[in-house]
Order: sequence, then C-alpha cells, then structure tokens
Amino acid sequence: MKFSAKYTEAQIILIAGNPGTGKTTLGSKFLYEGLKNDENSIYLNFTETKKDFYRNMLNLGIDFEYYEKQGKFKYIEAITITDINALSDLLQELLNLIDKMNAKRLVIDSISAIMQLGEQNLGKIRELLHNFFYLGPKLKEVTTFLIAELPYGKKSVGYGVEEFIVDGVIILKIKIVKRKIIRLMEIRKMRGNEISIGEVPFVIEYPDVISFRVPPTLNIIPSGINPSKGFIEIKVGNNKLTFASGTQNIFIVNPSVDSLPFLSFIIPQLLVKGNRIVYRSYIHSESTIKDKMTKCLEYYPNNKELINNLLVRNLNPSSKSIIELELNAEKIDNIEKPNIVIVEGLSTYIDIVSDLDTYKEEHYNNLIRRAGNNITGFYFINEFEENMSKIPLISVYDNVFYLTIKDKNILLKSIRNHLKAVPLDPIEIDARSIESCIAG
Ligand SMILES: Nc1ncnc2c1ncn2[C@@H]1O[C@H](COP(=O)(O)OP(=O)(O)OP(=O)(O)O)[C@@H](O)[C@H]1O
Ligand SMILES: [Mg+2]
Repeated sequence: MKFSAKYTEAQIILIAGNPGTGKTTLGSKFLYEGLKNDENSIYLNFTETKKDFYRNMLNLGIDFEYYEKQGKFKYIEAITITDINALSDLLQELLNLIDKMNAKRLVIDSISAIMQLGEQNLGKIRELLHNFFYLGPKLKEVTTFLIAELPYGKKSVGYGVEEFIVDGVIILKIKIVKRKIIRLMEIRKMRGNEISIGEVPFVIEYPDVISFRVPPTLNIIPSGINPSKGFIEIKVGNNKLTFASGTQNIFIVNPSVDSLPFLSFIIPQLLVKGNRIVYRSYIHSESTIKDKMTKCLEYYPNNKELINNLLVRNLNPSSKSIIELELNAEKIDNIEKPNIVIVEGLSTYIDIVSDLDTYKEEHYNNLIRRAGNNITGFYFINEFEENMSKIPLISVYDNVFYLTIKDKNILLKSIRNHLKAVPLDPIEIDARSIESCIAG
C-alpha cells in the first residue's frame, strides 16, 4: 500500500480511530509523501497548535517547516475557531488557499471538532461542509483525508459523515497483546480499489513515520525454490552441505548445545566465498559474535576485512512487539541486501513474544519474502529431538537438521532433505575442528 499512489480522481478518505491511534500521524505521512513528489499540501487542525504539531512530526522525521519555507506546505491552526460563522469564513479562506497554492492534498483534523462547533445547528454545519467539499476537494481535485475521532468503544463516527461524503474509510485501532501495542489499520471501504486484507498491522517510528506489514504474494513458497539460482556450500569435515539459494533452513539444536561454535566455523567459510550475511541473534551480544568470528577468520589468510560482510544485529525481544521485530527484519534485509540471513535464538524469541499465532503469521511472511528474494535463511532453535514436531512452522522449512553432541563431537542429522542437501547419514564434526574454527 502506497500513499504516493496517484488516485484517478480526487477522493475523500475518512480516517477514524480512538484517541492516540495515529490519525494525525497518518494524515501527516500522507501529506509528506505528496510533498516529496512536489504536490503542495495543507493541514487544517482544530486540535493541535502549530508548535506541538511541528515538533511531534519532526521527532518522526518530517520537517514541515522546510516545506513551509518553500511555499509548498501550509498549516492552519484553527484551535480558536468556536462558532459557525468563523468556520464558514475559515472554509472560504481554505478554498482560496487551495487555489493560490494549487494544493493537491489536504488533511482536516478533525470532523468531530467541526461538528462540535454547531451542536445546536448540525444541519447548517452539514450544509457548509457539503458546499465546501463540492467546491474544494471534488472540483479542484484535492485528495483529502478527513480525520474523525471515534469515542472509545464506538464503531461509527456518527453525524452521517460516512454516508454522504466519503469515498473511503480507514479505521485505526490499537490492541494490547502481551503488554505491547499492536497498531492496526482496517480498510473498510475504498472506491476503485480492490481490498483483500482486512487489517494491516503498522508501526509508528522514525524515520519512516508509518511502516506497514503487508504479506508478500505467494508467487513463491520455500519448497518452490529454483535450483538454477545457484547453491551455497558449507564444508563439514569430509562432507559438503549444499543448499539451493533461497532455501529456508532450520537447525534444531539440542538445548544442551550452544549453536555459536557451530556457527563459528560455517560463517567464516561463507564469508570467504563472498557471501554477505545478516546475523540476527536473540541470545548473544553483538560483540561476542563479532569477536568470535573475527578470531575464526584469522585462520583464513588475508581475509580479515571480510568481517565487514557480516552484519550482526542483537535484539531484545522483550522490548518490541512481533510486528516491530519482523518489520525490522524486513527493513534490515532491504537496507543491507544480504544473500544469507542467520537467525539465532528463535526459541528465546518465541518464548518471550509468546503470541504464537502472530509469530507464525509474521515469521511465515518473512520466510516467503526471503525465498522470493533469493535470500537463504539459516534459523537456529533449541528443542529436544522428540519435540520437534511442535516447532512453529516446522513443515515450511526446506531443510530440517538436528544438532546434538556425541562424545564431545557435534552430530548433525538430516531430518528433511531438499534436493539432497546433505548426505543421508549423520555427520560427526570433530570437537577439535570446531575449536579451531576449521571445517575440515
Ligand atoms: N517517535 C515516535 N515513535 C513511536 N511512536 C510515536 C512516536 N511519536 C508518537 N508516537 C505515537 O503516536 C501516537 C500518537 O499518534 P497521533 O497523535 O497521530 O494519534 P491521534 O489518533 O491523532 O491521537 P488524538 O486522537 O489524540 O489526536 C502515540 O500513541 C504515540 O505513542
Ligand atoms: Mg490527532
């Protein structure tokens, strides 16, 4: 979903939600996307002073002052408007300004505040608005976001606004799941657009202001990987593991085994072969991982600088919602453009986020997104062999391995084997070779 999308004709979209759901933020984002494309815009606000508004939006990365100085943006502070006559004058002034600026986008914040101006005379207010919307947005082709405050617990805006003016309705909501805020956008009606998703989770954050989680299309599923896209090879003792690019692979690690030593001999060889890796860990710190891998890289002469192709992200899953964490994963992939992603400590993540349904949905979307973008995924999760069927999404991964210890050596067993990624017999990895970070 893009706010920069050009509408074929001017539309009036109602943005409704309880206090604090992000209506003002969404309206600002809508104008900001227009401003970046040289579409002039106006924010009419009955509830917030210009100073507060500019400061809040600057915190999220929108510098409205910059656009105002260029004559592209105008904020109308309407908090002192208290009666219908003043409102009538204000709307006339707004029409003139739309002409003068050749504005293409407008936010009115809020229709609820406007309606409160004429509680004794709603008929008159409705007429004023009708005329305004006909003369302004409709006639002059200004796409307008009309904000409505939904009282807590109420589902409808009231005033009959939805019925008579608007082309689209977006409802913003907040849900608290496991003490974390989940923001949702429900697109209830949108003329000329086919709408298939009921609720889209979103995040308010600097500098994207509003980011979405939109499920990727299922044109590729992990098991539909195309082997012609190449392979990633890992040497283990005298054996070779061969993964088709874009496969999603899970290593189930016996809880008594630390996955870091195993990773510390596969990562250096992946780096030496020119791979670019994003390593997300929910258990080890960034410095622990980097130090270990730097040390292991020393066994490969003249390859020290390759450590720069390893981007480590250490995340505390208790500080964010699943939506934020998985959105962050998508962003990091887009920015860093790795061809391999390693995720370590999935079990800790799942334990802490504990909203399993959301986890499954979001993680699944990341698996198919990576498969579709030819990013090979290696996921490490702690679980006993007999419980592996309980691992969320276990049937989605292309390859499934089990890692355990046998007489101090690591034993790698293949559970599901895509394109004969590995020999069928368990592979034993010598303890000494693990210690020295050398694969074979
Ligand atoms: N920098 C930020 N990072 C993350 N969240 C932020 C940031 N700045 C503001 N928010 C969140 O945005 C929300 C406020 O959004 P906004 O003011 O757009 O809501 P609103 O629906 O317009 O509220 P109201 O009904 O009070 O006008 C708050 O819940 C706040 O937590
Ligand atoms: Mg607001």
